[in-house]
Amino acid sequence: MLSYGRILDELKTTFKDWSNTHRPPRVLIPGAGLARLCVEVAALGYEAQGNEFSYFMLLASSFILNHTSERHQFTVHPWMHTNCNHLTDADQLRAVPVPDVLPGELVAGPGLLSMCAGDFVEVYSAPDMRGLFDCVVTCFFIDTAHNVLRYLEVISHTLTLGGTWINLGPLLYHWADAHTYLTTPELSVELSLEDIKEAAGAMGFRLVREESLDVPYMADYRSMYKTVYQAAFWRMVKEREWEPQAQIATPPPPPPYRRTHA
Ligand SMILES: C[S@@+](CC[C@H](N)C(=O)[O-])C[C@H]1O[C@@H](n2cnc3c(N)ncnc32)[C@H](O)[C@@H]1O
Repeated sequence: MLSYGRILDELKTTFKDWSNTHRPPRVLIPGAGLARLCVEVAALGYEAQGNEFSYFMLLASSFILNHTSERHQFTVHPWMHTNCNHLTDADQLRAVPVPDVLPGELVAGPGLLSMCAGDFVEVYSAPDMRGLFDCVVTCFFIDTAHNVLRYLEVISHTLTLGGTWINLGPLLYHWADAHTYLTTPELSVELSLEDIKEAAGAMGFRLVREESLDVPYMADYRSMYKTVYQAAFWRMVKEREWEPQAQIATPPPPPPYRRTHA
């Protein structure tokens, strides 16, 4: 909850006076994973829409969101198949009851939570998605892009003018090593943090808040091995519209990767 807690606090600060508005703030959460953050956002009374393209994630989130009826209904053993870095045998075999909360009880009202299956760029670059959301929250997401500039464009496209982009995460570009395990060529644009912020500024975003946060990811708190990212956290405001296609052309895919040694 460290990452989610920080994001939720920022949302509360951003929309502290929303009860005077005619509808709750609309928040888009691309790369929603198991949709827990979506549930937490909807629990604030906001309209949360999660977007996800992985069937593994969608099936699991749908199961938890739509087919659980009580807390601790099922038991999973997440570390059973991992033999490394356990302090005790009991740590490896320990059980975790799920769900720890019932989404249906947490979400503040009907119609506040929706999930949209599909590729973020494909779905949300559509003309009818323009300016639909008051806020986009990206948590450990922007580095999943083939071209992070395209993500920035689509985030801008979906936001209303004056809308907010909250981001938390590292830059572990998912496609950076694709040439080592895929036979198909995959585009991977790997910008530094500095360049992303520069590009966001050029696209009409103003940086309001920025921090570097030490955040764990998928941690087994009992393990002798933990991953902690020094993640970038920011809140930006969309101050002007950006017309993508005319200004940044998506580069053609690179030539097929060829091995130079056996
Ligand atoms: C590193 S995980 C983060 C999950 C979640 N935001 C969290 O913090 O727990 C990135 C997620 O983005 C999803 N994803 C990656 N590329 C995507 C795309 N183009 N469109 C939609 N979802 C995508 C992945 O399937 C994965 O669930």
